[in-house]
Amino acid sequence: VFAAYIPLVEVIPEWQHRGVGSLLVTAMLDRLRHWYMIDLVCDDDIVPFYERLGGSRLNAVAWWNFDRLRD
Ligand SMILES: CC(C)(COP(=O)(O)OP(=O)(O)OC[C@H]1O[C@@H](n2cnc3c(N)ncnc32)[C@H](O)[C@@H]1OP(=O)(O)O)[C@@H](O)C(=O)NCCC(=O)NCCS
Repeated sequence: VFAAYIPLVEVIPEWQHRGVGSLLVTAMLDRLRHWYMIDLVCDDDIVPFYERLGGSRLNAVAWWNFDRLRD
């Protein structure tokens, strides 16, 4: 195993901006950062949040079946 994927990080609105998201992501990075790659997909306006935690903005291509979200 050399790659990790972190999908759908979300903090419920009433707990946002209190450090919870940073704590969750840092805890995951502490366990994963020695791996070759850690990928996370997010909306464009959220990228600065992850850049503060050392992440880099990259290009990506994906094939997602949005109609499967209900399954
Ligand atoms: C993005 C998110 C996970 C951050 O978690 P959090 O617990 O609110 O973040 P923290 O309190 O650890 O850090 C807050 C800092 O992150 C940055 N930040 C948080 N939300 C942001 C947003 N929507 N856009 C840009 N920067 C954001 C800001 O610099 C913020 O600092 P501030 O509180 O002084 O304004 C959370 O706001 C969230 O769930 N948002 C809605 C869902 C979402 O868009 N998820 C991303 C899908 S991958």
